[in-house]
Amino acid sequence: MITPHGGKLVSRIIKENDLPENALVLTLNEREKNDLEMISCGAMSPLEGFMNKVDYDSVIGEMRLKNGIVWSLPVVFSMKKDDPQISVGDTVVLEYGDRIRGMMEIEDIFSADLDLEARETLLTNDEAHPGVQYLKTLSGKYIGGKISALDLRDEEPFRDHRLIPEETRALFEEKGWKSIVAFQTRNPIHRAHEYLQKVSLEMVDGLLIHPLVGVTKADDIPADVRMNCYETILENYYPSDRTALSVFPAAMRYAGPREAIFHALLRKNYGCTHFIVGRDHAGVGDYYGTFDAQVIFDNFTAEEIDIVPLKFEHAFFCNKCGGMATARTCPHTGADRVFLSGKKVRAMLIDGILPPPEFTRPEIAQILMEAAAK
Ligand code: ADX
Repeated sequence: MITPHGGKLVSRIIKENDLPENALVLTLNEREKNDLEMISCGAMSPLEGFMNKVDYDSVIGEMRLKNGIVWSLPVVFSMKKDDPQISVGDTVVLEYGDRIRGMMEIEDIFSADLDLEARETLLTNDEAHPGVQYLKTLSGKYIGGKISALDLRDEEPFRDHRLIPEETRALFEEKGWKSIVAFQTRNPIHRAHEYLQKVSLEMVDGLLIHPLVGVTKADDIPADVRMNCYETILENYYPSDRTALSVFPAAMRYAGPREAIFHALLRKNYGCTHFIVGRDHAGVGDYYGTFDAQVIFDNFTAEEIDIVPLKFEHAFFCNKCGGMATARTCPHTGADRVFLSGKKVRAMLIDGILPPPEFTRPEIAQILMEAAAK
């Protein structure tokens, strides 16, 4: 089984009676709540908590933690307007939605240059970018320190598919898969997704479809609709002994290239050996070049990333080929190629137009149409 990032799988899950009594309460926002779950279950190994200033600066400037381990995005906890007075050395409990979810030992309280964070990690400070919009809601002060958290999966959606890294690793072991490709997605499955997954499955033992179900921007298709699509397509078009579906409860950052590295490293923690990176991975609008999220892997050695990125060209349906293809495999011209983006499909659904089978399987088009009509 592949070694987790940084050497060992972190586990910082505690029980209700491990929480300190009468501790000060700090509030998590939705992204931080997602991060708490991800850190505590080891998905973000080697992180054991929210970043202190030294790691934060190093990640922003060098794409590495202070100890040199590759890490491309900040994982931080922001101070809120109504927070109680806190000091380094305090142990506090962390709350979201009237529920205490974990605790934190405060190691550091620091000011951050959020404009710099935006420019370095999102490569823009344009307020139309959803990641920049998020940063604009923050105070500019971060609180760093180790966390521990309750396992509250029974209170979360998709419980049956909410496997933690230890469990996906056990699943792969049980299935006898030695090589596993992970597929990150925040969209309903379409033909290009299926093509990438199945081409990959020709080369490895197993496929982990790993949809992101943490916070996404308001106009992305909700996770329950997407999960419905995945369950439907798996039942009808995928080999059940070579495919697994589990959720990735992280927040979407829309950080393009840096997020591709982040997504890959976290999938290694789940036990995957390969990771699909297609066109404009984790992108939004026109902020990133189509293949920037692939090129960024060249900044690191294969040993330090240690999960193999499977890089794909822009896939489309070619009417002349009569199937999915890319510019690497199809000799025909633009006019024969059906390219559809998630954005175009959302517009079709709003107008009550069923997306065509060249773009998505009819069963999926139907689910999307019904969801859009609600
Ligand atoms: S993402 O934000 O999670 O990257 P999405 O769910 O659309 O968005 O994409 C999932 C993966 O499929 C990403 O690696 C993306 O690059 C890839 N992908 C999506 N559509 C295509 C396409 N038409 N051609 C090639 N790769 C694609």
